[in-house]
Amino acid sequence: MGFEPPRDPSVRVVAGRTSYLILHNTSEVVTPDGEGRAVLRYPRGAVVFREGRVLEVGPGPELSRRHVDARPINANGKLVTPGLVDCHTHMIFAGHRALELQRRLKGEDYAAIAAAGGGIRSTVAATAAERDDVLEKSLANRLERWRANGCTTVEVKSGYGLTPSGETRLLELMRAAAQRVPARLHRTALLLHALPPEYRDRRAEYVTAMVERVLPDIRTRQLASAVDVFCEPVAFTVEECRAVLSRAKELGLDVKLHAEQLERSGGARLAAELGACSVDHLESATEEDWKALAAAGVVGVLLPGSALTLGQRLPEAAMLRRSGARWAVSSDFNPGTSPFQSLLECAALAARLCGFDAEETLMSVTWNAARALRAEAEVGHLNPGAWGDAVIWECEALEELPYWLPAVRPDTVFMRGADLALPAVERRVWP
Ligand code: NIG
Ligand code: FE
Repeated sequence: MGFEPPRDPSVRVVAGRTSYLILHNTSEVVTPDGEGRAVLRYPRGAVVFREGRVLEVGPGPELSRRHVDARPINANGKLVTPGLVDCHTHMIFAGHRALELQRRLKGEDYAAIAAAGGGIRSTVAATAAERDDVLEKSLANRLERWRANGCTTVEVKSGYGLTPSGETRLLELMRAAAQRVPARLHRTALLLHALPPEYRDRRAEYVTAMVERVLPDIRTRQLASAVDVFCEPVAFTVEECRAVLSRAKELGLDVKLHAEQLERSGGARLAAELGACSVDHLESATEEDWKALAAAGVVGVLLPGSALTLGQRLPEAAMLRRSGARWAVSSDFNPGTSPFQSLLECAALAARLCGFDAEETLMSVTWNAARALRAEAEVGHLNPGAWGDAVIWECEALEELPYWLPAVRPDTVFMRGADLALPAVERRVWP
């Protein structure tokens, strides 16, 4: 392996501070079990946090009796779940593409707009023209917004840099932004997104630059823990993606793909072959593809924001269940195909469009999404040993989470067992 990316690069440890608290008087505590096989429900449950991690979860009255020294935090009869995990976003970019949406709503095609120099390349130009400090601050603001919506772990991809130096610039800014805000940030290098115009006649040279220069640099400077590619006829071929991802794997980086979105082209099979963490989009994937993902233990990530925006269908719950695969739901937040700024709203849409029940919906934005980031030992559930990242929601029943739109708001968000609504001195612990 050689390279071991920091597990939790964005969270600082404050030495010498401890915390011991019990979150009690809930309507219920709901969490995936430690293996992500079932959803556990504790009516009037409680969660005990110690030194930032979950010490115990279970029936409230019993835990309160046994943890008399813990600082009590009253959930006032509300629902408690793990902090949500958004495992696929492109939230470092400048500008917007609202006019492009208007063109698409009038019937212009996404791929045709992109081929004419719009689409991804227009965001690349806006991002290149933006100052570093503005990009860093806007990413930090977005991470704050995600956390305020109940998302405590967020994956962010580069991808609007395109050139080798453009991509590493975005990865460096992501690392800087993570220092500004309490958020667990997973950095992914999206290396084959679109061919930059200056490489128009030098496609092979571009892929080689990524393999020989950018990947080793990412590894040496620990700029990202995972590598992503856009495997699609309008973007890059299966062979080009295999070249980048197999080298990334050799370097000890996690790999994932955008694939089977506009057309079925073999990206899901490549994900299975490489043992990718996830393969994302899959609007054009078949049941056989999903079975191959199940056999290889690859998470399939559904992106209802971009499917809705591009007028595509999401798979049906019955087919997904038959396939035996794990699926996650993510926002795919980006200025082109998914300007969706709330993961829970995406989950509520997916529940309706696919037919997921409330427990499947919760699993898709907690344990399964954490698994897509290889972070399921740490986040996505409230079992002993996990980080104390939890949400008290402004509702009582789990079934309300996919029900209300706009989505249910968090009452309180905890990270590392610390109530982030309190001023830092009173939290006792801030990560
Ligand atoms: O996940 N598929 C490629 N990337 C984004 C869209 C990027 C854009 O249009 O700016 C996606 O849908
Ligand atoms: Fe995406």
